[in-house]
Amino acid sequence: MAVRPVLKMGHPLLRQVAAPAVVGSPELHALIGDMDDTMRALNGAGIAAPQIGVSLRVVIFEMKDNPRYPHVAAVPYTVLVNPVLTLLGDEREEGWEGCLSVPGLRGLVPRYRRLRYQAVTADGETIDRTVEGFHARVVQHEVDHLDGILFPERIEDLRRFGFEDALAGQMTPMPD
Ligand code: NI
Repeated sequence: MAVRPVLKMGHPLLRQVAAPAVVGSPELHALIGDMDDTMRALNGAGIAAPQIGVSLRVVIFEMKDNPRYPHVAAVPYTVLVNPVLTLLGDEREEGWEGCLSVPGLRGLVPRYRRLRYQAVTADGETIDRTVEGFHARVVQHEVDHLDGILFPERIEDLRRFGFEDALAGQMTPMPD
């Protein structure tokens, strides 16, 4: 396993719609190991396979005592292969987001408050959860990566987008 370079916004691979992954293969376990190492080395809340240059529908996320995201609720370590989201209701809420592919920048992004996600693990076990708040936000952010979308495209007021050191003190804690 290894920490891999993270592609930055502008790289064409981040714009692609990623392909479904085949579960149960050694390659998939190796990919997830590299995603784990890379996410932890950079204090990411999550990472999607395209961010390390692999255009497959795999994301991981975890939120636990993360210095990049203080004040947010814990989210269990999760691996999603071939995730499918079902939005529940029209309610949206705003929260500040960052991304390992958009280093140094944060933006205020509206996301759906509640959703259901269905996926499989690396070994093909079913995951089916209904979540809300920050957990739902992380899932929407990561699954957007699989469809070639980065968080700046979701910002509705570009005055609420900037460098995190300059924004310090203006970013309200994210709702949980
Ligand atoms: Ni991201």
